Amino acid sequence: MSTPTITDKAGIAGGRLFLLDQHPSSNQWMKDSSIELSHGDVVRVHDQTAGRGRLDRTWVAPAGQSLCLSVYLQTPDLLSHPERCGLSAALAIHDTLSELSIQSQLKWPNDIWVDQKKISGILLEKTSDPAGIILGIGLNVSIPQTVLDAAQLDRPATSILSQLNGAPPLDEVWQLLRHALTVRLLQTNDTAWPQQLAAWTRHDALTGTSVTLRTVTGLATGDYAGLSPDGCLQLKTDSGMVSFLAGDITRVTQT
Ligand code: BTN
Repeated sequence: MSTPTITDKAGIAGGRLFLLDQHPSSNQWMKDSSIELSHGDVVRVHDQTAGRGRLDRTWVAPAGQSLCLSVYLQTPDLLSHPERCGLSAALAIHDTLSELSIQSQLKWPNDIWVDQKKISGILLEKTSDPAGIILGIGLNVSIPQTVLDAAQLDRPATSILSQLNGAPPLDEVWQLLRHALTVRLLQTNDTAWPQQLAAWTRHDALTGTSVTLRTVTGLATGDYAGLSPDGCLQLKTDSGMVSFLAGDITRVTQT
C-alpha cells in the first residue's frame, strides 16, 4: 500500500484526485477513507492487486495497463437514484471510447462491450456513514489480447490496445473519461433523466434478443423489453412482463 498524492480540482465536479501507486482495490480505499471524502473525489490506482467485480468476482488489471478508479458521489439526486450513477457512467465510458473511434455497446446493468467482448465494468457500492456512493470503474487500456485470453476470465474480454492495435497513454484516456463523467453525471436529475435513458437505449446491446437472467430466486428467460425508467431490466416472459432490479445475464440469443 502507498500514500496517495493529492491534486485539488483534478477529480470530477471540482473534487480532488488521489493517485495511489498500489492498493488492493480503489473501491475499498474509498470505503476506508469515506469520512474524509467529498462529492467528486476520485482515486486512481496504478497497480490494483485485488480488484473487485460484481457478484464477488475478481477484476484483473495488470499494473499500468488499465484504468482502475473510483468516484465518490454524494448529491441528493444520485443518493436517491443510485442506479442512475451506473447507467450514466456506462454512457460516459461509451463516449470516451467513441472519442477514440471505438464503437461500444452497453449491457445491463453496467457492462461495456466491444465486438461481443467486455472492455469495461462498473462496481457500485454504498457507504452509510456518511451516506455516499462509490462508483468503481475498470477500463482495459493497454492489456495485450494474449494476456486477457490467458487470464481465463469468465467472459471474453478486450482492451483499447486490442481494438486499435495501439493505445493512448492512461492519462489521456483518464482525461477523456473525466470529461465524459462530468457531463453525464450532471444529467441525472428528473428533468434530464429521460433523455439520458434514451441515449442508453440507443447503445443497448440487448435490443432484439432473448435473455436468460440468474437472480437470487432462480433463472428467468424472456424477450428483452428494454429498461424501465428506474433502470430495471424488463423481460417479456411466458407469465407476462417482469422487471428485475438485479441479476446476472447468463445467456443472450438473437430473436
Ligand atoms: C464488473 O464488471 O464486475 C465490475 C468491475 C469493476 C472493477 C473496478 S476497478 C476499480 C474499482 N475497484 C475495484 O475493486 N473494482 C472496481
